Amino acid sequence: MLSMSPQPVAGPLTRAAIFLVVTINDGPEPAATVRSFCPDLSALVRAVGFRDPEGRLSCVMAFGADAWDRVFGAPRPKELHPFKEITGKHHAPATPGDLLFHIRAMRMDLCFELASEIVVRLGGAVAVADEVHGFQYFENRDLLGFVDGTENPVDQPALDATVIGEEDAPFAGGSYVIVQKYLHDLKGWNAVPVEQQEKFVGRTKLSDIELDDATKPSFAHNALTVIEENGQELQIVRANMPFGEVGKGEFGTYFCGYARSPRRTEQMLENMFVGRPPGNYDRLLDFSRAVTGTLFFVPSATFLDDVAPTAAAPASADADSTEAAGEPPSEAPPSAADGSLGVGSLRRDTGRE
Ligand code: HEM
Repeated sequence: MLSMSPQPVAGPLTRAAIFLVVTINDGPEPAATVRSFCPDLSALVRAVGFRDPEGRLSCVMAFGADAWDRVFGAPRPKELHPFKEITGKHHAPATPGDLLFHIRAMRMDLCFELASEIVVRLGGAVAVADEVHGFQYFENRDLLGFVDGTENPVDQPALDATVIGEEDAPFAGGSYVIVQKYLHDLKGWNAVPVEQQEKFVGRTKLSDIELDDATKPSFAHNALTVIEENGQELQIVRANMPFGEVGKGEFGTYFCGYARSPRRTEQMLENMFVGRPPGNYDRLLDFSRAVTGTLFFVPSATFLDDVAPTAAAPASADADSTEAAGEPPSEAPPSAADGSLGVGSLRRDTGRE
């Protein structure tokens, strides 16, 4: 069996990122356009990224539950479902999103260029639901002033935490990602004494050292987000980025968590929003409001590369139907892992509008 290489889900933090969440417009044509775009993504990332290889441009493309059904149909990843809103001490809403493009690089211009190319290619097939431009803030601090990402697993443990294996063999090499956009009440936060802030987070602010067990409360963020199963810690890989707009008083953290099962992240969210035990919730949420929440499946890179360029062609010759993919519909069956080399994906530019 071919080994399935994952998309770059477990990479280290970068200086810049764009989170692009889009919805796919109604009808079969937009879904076909998205489908035919899939095998082109890797060449697009290579083309933009080669302009500065040290810029380490990468992109993860992920699919919401409804979008998966529309674009690929059966079979579907075992644990793919829409994000479940949580109402506890605080509220985690579920918001629309069919595709996530998580674009990362050491330079924002690389991210921006790739995001523009993607939106040009998808053209009228999608509408952008949310776009966040994230930046590294000093030594990987969030806008609350704490270093964010310290306890992320790296290397093999990061892959073990994020990449699906035998538990869903047809989708091995895949992953799940949950994103949430948080807006901080910085005025309120800055009125809290630093020593108290450190108890909310579970680490010291300046030196980023974990509080010892005697000092760390059970509601500390890094207590509630450490979960275990059969005595083993279940980890995720976080790619959070600060973002904001000073004129609007907007100071945010874009949460982005990859895991081989969405249950892990959902459990952490439950602990944060409802509490462990219920009521013992995450005090960061008193100063951070979740305004979006969406769950996506990340197919392997191999899966994306092998997507047959066009889904089953619509029977009716719609006058607009060529606008979408810029290519005649192929007779290829809607099988994604057909082992083709994807040569058909080396297509000409469909042109800017
Ligand atoms: C307002 C949004 C959030 C902020 C500002 C934030 C910030 C932080 C900070 C400062 C740390 C400590 C340093 C580190 O180990 O990275 C941390 C740890 C962590 N966070 Fe968050 N976080 C947020 C949301 C979330 C959410 C929604 C989840 C999961 C659903 C999560 C999961 C974790 C995990 C697993 C750790 C590491 C715990 C450990 O192993 O010590 N965080 N976060």
